[in-house]
Amino acid sequence: MSLQPYSFAKRVPALSPIGAAQATSRSDLIPFSYGTPSSDLFPYQELQEAASAAILQEGRDSLQYAGADGPQIVQDWIANRSKLRSIHVQSNQVLVTYGSQQAIDYAARTLLEPGDHAWVEAPTYFGAVNTFKAAEAIITSFPIDENGLQIELVEEALKEAVRVGQPIPKFVYVMPNFHNPGGVSLSLSRRKRLAELAYEYNFFILEDDAYAELAFEREHIPAIYNFAPERVIYLSSFSKIIAPGIRLGWAIASADVIRRINTFFQGSMASVFSQEIVAQLFQKLSFEDHLEMLITRYKSSRDIMVEALRQHFGDGITFQIPNGGFFIWLKFPDHVNTADLVQDANERGVSFIAGNQFFVKPEGARYARLSFSYCNEEQIRKGVEILAHSYNSYLSKIK
Ligand SMILES: Cc1ncc(COP(=O)(O)O)c(C=O)c1O
Repeated sequence: MSLQPYSFAKRVPALSPIGAAQATSRSDLIPFSYGTPSSDLFPYQELQEAASAAILQEGRDSLQYAGADGPQIVQDWIANRSKLRSIHVQSNQVLVTYGSQQAIDYAARTLLEPGDHAWVEAPTYFGAVNTFKAAEAIITSFPIDENGLQIELVEEALKEAVRVGQPIPKFVYVMPNFHNPGGVSLSLSRRKRLAELAYEYNFFILEDDAYAELAFEREHIPAIYNFAPERVIYLSSFSKIIAPGIRLGWAIASADVIRRINTFFQGSMASVFSQEIVAQLFQKLSFEDHLEMLITRYKSSRDIMVEALRQHFGDGITFQIPNGGFFIWLKFPDHVNTADLVQDANERGVSFIAGNQFFVKPEGARYARLSFSYCNEEQIRKGVEILAHSYNSYLSKIK
């Protein structure tokens, strides 16, 4: 029998493979393209013990739909830890999800009707943008600078939308700390202003704080949530601080919003067994010591990459040194298109992601994202050197 054509749901967009999805997985490459934690920093031994303790101590309940005590312990830990960012919530305002990617998805679908507007940063995190596209949002982007999203441009656009009778966005999606890919953080005054605008114009803010804990200077600016608790959905994750394979993230919002988002779970929960393991882990592991180890390593990797970039590129490129997170966002001269560099760099042995992949409009060709999180010192030094060779050869061709 021949297969008949089938019409799939239109909302499944024809997504181009951008960002990480496009990053090559060739194992012989030095992967500056991977926005992933370094595997040797996972609390491996402790996780082994925690997984077996979850079964041995909590028994079969740990494998039931609701789990044993694990889910409550994890929710309480999140609520407690959030105080660092001036977020003071009850546990019923914390929803644990399958990674923060699921929280982004559920939050977006809770807020958006097809055809609604979502405003994002330029550049932005492609995983979120694809999720908004799948929710059939119309996406508009606003530039960032060294202090994060340029709120004054957002404000102008809101005023203009009201003036000409255009729709207001249902939400603005923003990464307040150690932006992916920009590496920058949103200043306190801009956080406050965005929160005021959310009330004034009645939109939500999706505050995606995936890198919050990886603050190299231990500085925690209050979350936007703090300034507009009824209009912010705050999102974060265990992926960068424990391990992404645990697949646990969370959303924090008003109890009403959490109840709505929760309907997507249809009575079930994000992996209770993973939550049991994390709950056990927190009993064995000193989180502060573990975090100290992560920060020490990532900060040192950042410094090595910065030094190598200065050594090999000199004044040829500019970048802001990130105070946390995983990424350095390189700015090349105006006439450079980093997409044209990708293949040659791959052939020479290094991968990175071209800047245009992080924008919803055709722009950003002169930028590139390098991740310092995954590679060791030797790889970072070697990779930057290779990239510089590739760039110099590219420059000699376009002259
Ligand atoms: C800004 C940002 N948000 C969300 C995520 C998703 O993380 P996870 O689903 O692993 O929690 C990532 C992953 O790289 C990210 O960079």
